[in-house]
Amino acid sequence: MSNILNRHKAIERNVTLLAVLSLVAVAIGGIVEIAPLFWIDSTVTKVEGVRPYTPLELVGRNIYMREGCYNCHSQMVRPFRDETERYGHYSLAAESMYDHPFQWGSERTGPDLARVGGRYSDGWHVQHMTNPRAVVPESIMPPYAFLAERDLKTDAIAGHLVALRRVGVPYSDIDIAKASADLALQGDAEADSSDFVARYPKAQVRDFDGDPKRLTELDAIIAYLQSIGTAVDFTAAAAKEQPR
Ligand code: HEC
Repeated sequence: MSNILNRHKAIERNVTLLAVLSLVAVAIGGIVEIAPLFWIDSTVTKVEGVRPYTPLELVGRNIYMREGCYNCHSQMVRPFRDETERYGHYSLAAESMYDHPFQWGSERTGPDLARVGGRYSDGWHVQHMTNPRAVVPESIMPPYAFLAERDLKTDAIAGHLVALRRVGVPYSDIDIAKASADLALQGDAEADSSDFVARYPKAQVRDFDGDPKRLTELDAIIAYLQSIGTAVDFTAAAAKEQPR
């Protein structure tokens, strides 16, 4: 016993030896954790219904980041009862697998937005974005009325899809070729959207901002908000889990 202690004393008294052996110990732990990630196909289990963003949703998401909405809003429902009762089913990893960068966040000056899609009408969002106090008198959210005045540029969008494809988002060549047409189409209630919806299942096609003559940044951000958290059908999943 004292023999082992003596040998340990030798390590503790030699700073270089201690540093080298500590590094070896930490490296073994690191390899055990990291190496398997190189051998499995994906760390995120695929979930039915999750698809890449449509061009209009993507532009809306870019505006969301530009305006710093993440400074006040998180996008992750944690698996605790108080959260799931307020917001809905807790977030799955797969739901943000095409998010670059993700918008999970940790600051909640305002509510979590991970399940906001479909919770309110487009008209509510128009009023709320224009003047939050008009619909929620005690709100401290700043107004974003200027979004309704800013026309969307449709020419740069294909480049965004190409960039996302490079980091693994499965946009097809057709999606990229039609990107700017898709962008305009989704905000037009009169458009023939069958091909578009076949490529982007469950995409909502309509005039979002109440001004059918123009495609504005308000159209894009509402299209994005209305899509958040709607990809996975949790009612079907719950029915399967608990047969009655
Ligand atoms: C200074 C903090 C702050 C910023 C920045 C902010 N919000 Fe909010 N937001 C709030 C607060 C507080 C509420 C709750 C009161 C209300 O509904 O207005 C809220 C509510 C919301 C709601 C309603 C959520 C619900 O479930 O009731 C939406 C949607 C929303 N914000 C979107 C946005 C978007 C989009 C942006 C960026 C363009 C943004 N917010 C920027 C503070 C903020």
